[in-house]
Amino acid sequence: MTGLIPDARLRSAADFVRPGACLADVGCDHAILPVWLCRQGKVRCAYACDIAAGPCERARAAVSRAGLSDCIRVVQTDGLQGLEGCGITDVSICGMGGELIARIISDACFVRDPAVRLILGPMSKPAALRRYLAENGFAVAAESISEVSGKLYFCLCASFDGRTRTLSPFAAEFGEDIPAETPVSPLFLRYLAQKKAALLRRCRGLAQAGLPHEGEDALAEEIERFIHDRT
Ligand SMILES: C[S@@+](CC[C@H](N)C(=O)[O-])C[C@H]1O[C@@H](n2cnc3c(N)ncnc32)[C@H](O)[C@@H]1O
Repeated sequence: MTGLIPDARLRSAADFVRPGACLADVGCDHAILPVWLCRQGKVRCAYACDIAAGPCERARAAVSRAGLSDCIRVVQTDGLQGLEGCGITDVSICGMGGELIARIISDACFVRDPAVRLILGPMSKPAALRRYLAENGFAVAAESISEVSGKLYFCLCASFDGRTRTLSPFAAEFGEDIPAETPVSPLFLRYLAQKKAALLRRCRGLAQAGLPHEGEDALAEEIERFIHDRT
């Protein structure tokens, strides 16, 4: 990250934020996302939130340097605690593990509202996050994938619709409903190939230890079929 310019991962989150939104950026650290979105005039206002004092100080300094103190409020809080009733329309939670993101969503009743958009960028365990969303009535409307320094990251755009869903292992790992006619991006194909290689390594380890590995085998085969069908 250079200065206050978001990298490709944060840009893909920024793309899902709606024009005119009142954004809560959870785990803001340097407040790169809210500062950039306010500077672009894309959001009306923002709450830059972080649980830790150091990131909040960095965020306050960045907001003040950018002359955006009227537009962005820095709040030290766990997740979205204390932000109910603040008129938040869009919530971004990026740069944390999928399980922590799920916990933050589950602790905030006000996001269980179809009008609130969630923009979620898990650094790890995207499958745990997709499962949480599916089982708790959140629909994923769109996903994107980005690359920073050779690492690939998903960004999910979701909102509450109250319908619970059960995801297959493939849908949990890679996203739901990838329509057959949709061209698959080279980045996504690379992600699939990396996952398949990791699964095969895991299968070999489990087999050597005499442990069952049918689930991993089946998922690796499904990835292979998907890659074959789409390329
Ligand atoms: C790796 S940084 C991510 C910064 C930025 N969102 C990004 O994606 O580049 C993670 C930030 O999340 C904050 N964080 C961790 N747990 C949190 C929680 N429960 N509530 C709010 N912030 C949290 C950390 O203090 C840290 O500043």
